[in-house]
Amino acid sequence: MKTVVKGNIHYVGVNDRQKHLFENMWPLPNGVSYNSYLINDDKIALVDTVDACYFETFLYKIKRVIGDRPIDYLIINHMEPDHSGSISLLKHYYPNITIVGNRQTFGMIEGYYGVTGEQLVVKDGDTLELGRHKLTFYLTPMVHWPETMMTFEETEGVLFSGDAFGCFGALNGGFIDSKINLDIYWDEMVRYYSNIVGKYGSPVQKALEKLGSLPIQAICSTHGPVWVENIAKVVGIYDKLSRYEAEPGVVIVYGSMYGHTEQLAEVIAEELSNQGVKNVVMHNVSKSHASYILADIFKYKGLIMGCPTYNGQLYPAIEAIVNNILHRDMKNRCLGYFGSFTWAGTAVKRLADFAEKSKFEVVNNPVEFKHSMKEADIANAEALAKEMAIVVSR
Ligand code: FEO
Repeated sequence: MKTVVKGNIHYVGVNDRQKHLFENMWPLPNGVSYNSYLINDDKIALVDTVDACYFETFLYKIKRVIGDRPIDYLIINHMEPDHSGSISLLKHYYPNITIVGNRQTFGMIEGYYGVTGEQLVVKDGDTLELGRHKLTFYLTPMVHWPETMMTFEETEGVLFSGDAFGCFGALNGGFIDSKINLDIYWDEMVRYYSNIVGKYGSPVQKALEKLGSLPIQAICSTHGPVWVENIAKVVGIYDKLSRYEAEPGVVIVYGSMYGHTEQLAEVIAEELSNQGVKNVVMHNVSKSHASYILADIFKYKGLIMGCPTYNGQLYPAIEAIVNNILHRDMKNRCLGYFGSFTWAGTAVKRLADFAEKSKFEVVNNPVEFKHSMKEADIANAEALAKEMAIVVSR
């Protein structure tokens, strides 16, 4: 059957190529998948659901596997509505279904959907026998909500991991990594992690520790491909990102109204290149979406930010990026900064506040200029770039 993940475990997820923005914030140029899985045993279990907009397709896919047999269990690993959205509709079609979740899950189900009825409340390490398949539940709070848990199926060695190990990008035909071209998914994984899960590095680390000894043969996440051939690579990416580890390279994020601040950003970029830094990524904050800027900040060790003073504060688009970084509790970055002003300089002071709050390692002195850059400002910008080149390569 085309839906088989392993044995009697089937993929019944759907693809969303309609939404422009995930969580109404993050661009989806390649779409996104909402993955759900069906374990067809003496007892039938469905693992997670899909966005309610796709319920009709979802139900069709379920029935293609089990026909008119009822579903016994609905396992809810994660309650965010991209996965829980079809709970009340499922309950309508399968009124006797038992919903499986932990102590945190059911309040959310009732709160969001008004759904009550048969419940199986599980604790960390509890098991559920379906016949040939045996499930063990692992609580993994804050990966990515407090109720998140993962479900491990012992017979086939399949981990249903919720959002963990997920990525943006719809599934174009196949859903198993070994059968599809994965090129788009690697960058989409970093962007998904940095945008959605990025704040929760420590809970991700705890989950990796908890699950580290399981004999995992396949990872079934709620977004993106099923990982069979690339388990070590995918776990490695999540491990690295959740430890806030980064590659040598520098992201320059700048705001500029009339090009003067941008000129200084160009000086810094050129000098970084002169110093041998190959990975220099420049983002004009007014053009690049925060989604891509955050992904690059998660990827590279150096960050240089600059903008003009605006209304006596930071340039607003830079202020938004600053907040996005602080909200994610990012660590282990080297920060340089610069700013410009016309009559009263504030941008550099606010970026100094950001440096203090973020606890990033500040590189060199900030560069601040009035009106337009002069020779001394160019020299200071080059000095900043030289120092940054040294710290990101050590
Ligand atoms: Fe894909 Fe946190 O939901």
